[in-house]
Amino acid sequence: MPTLSMAPQVFSILSALVAERAGLHFDATHAAIFGDKVAARALEVGFDSLLEYYYFLRYDAAGQTELDLLIEQLVVGETYLFRELAPLEVAITRFVLPAIDQGRRARIWCAACATGEEPHTVAMILAARGLLNEVDLVASDISNAALRRARAGRFGRRALRGEVPAFAARWVRADPEGVSVEGRLTDAIQWQRINLIDGASWPEMGLFDVILCRNVLIYFADDTARRVAANLARRLRTGGALLVGISESLLRFGTELRCEERDGVFLYEKLA
Ligand SMILES: C[S@@+](CC[C@H](N)C(=O)[O-])C[C@H]1O[C@@H](n2cnc3c(N)ncnc32)[C@H](O)[C@@H]1O
Repeated sequence: MPTLSMAPQVFSILSALVAERAGLHFDATHAAIFGDKVAARALEVGFDSLLEYYYFLRYDAAGQTELDLLIEQLVVGETYLFRELAPLEVAITRFVLPAIDQGRRARIWCAACATGEEPHTVAMILAARGLLNEVDLVASDISNAALRRARAGRFGRRALRGEVPAFAARWVRADPEGVSVEGRLTDAIQWQRINLIDGASWPEMGLFDVILCRNVLIYFADDTARRVAANLARRLRTGGALLVGISESLLRFGTELRCEERDGVFLYEKLA
């Protein structure tokens, strides 16, 4: 199969372009995998020089669209149903239930939802507690391809690779080819394409009680992750909480949110 090798100088400008557009940070240790993926895409769309491909992405009128398609190839969409379930349960108990008890409609944003397993998990937790109709649930990702799959409510068998809670049996059906979630849950989720990097382009969505931004900040450089977390904090209601993945921490690079441990789970709360 033909391929193109990526010179260090071209790696440097192409990886900077991808970081600028999507936040994804590829350092020298990822140069080989980055080079392979970019070369495959460049060849697919008819380029035989990676420098020419760079000029097209950066300066051609059609370059923006192609850059978005390249980014689709570079994102890591690893996710599954009921992943890191305990923090979701705690966030709903501590931040969503009190809002509903006050007679307010609660709001949750799942801000990098990949192929939809995470917001469907949230929808199931809410439905199991009879709360699905009391909550606005927004799910977004940068990847249109991932969102198309998410909206179908149909996943591969690996979507059930983790521990499966008893309540899942009411909404999830596994067959030899894959896993389906009841359409009522998919329909309760408002799906949107949102690039986390560009806070100025986010649609007006109002404030949220809970924002999930799990297992995505690890792909960004620290200053980018700090900026994204600060923009997400602005979309939190006072008293609301931001959740990152269990192996991630905002304290590493500083945040105006307060890290609190609630029922054994770490969350970042907006105090004022
Ligand atoms: C590893 S998945 C995490 C999915 C889910 N949150 C979870 O924890 O299972 C990371 C997701 O972040 C998305 N992503 C990467 N860069 C993004 C950006 N700049 N804006 C929005 N989403 C982005 C990817 O498309 C991918 O679907």
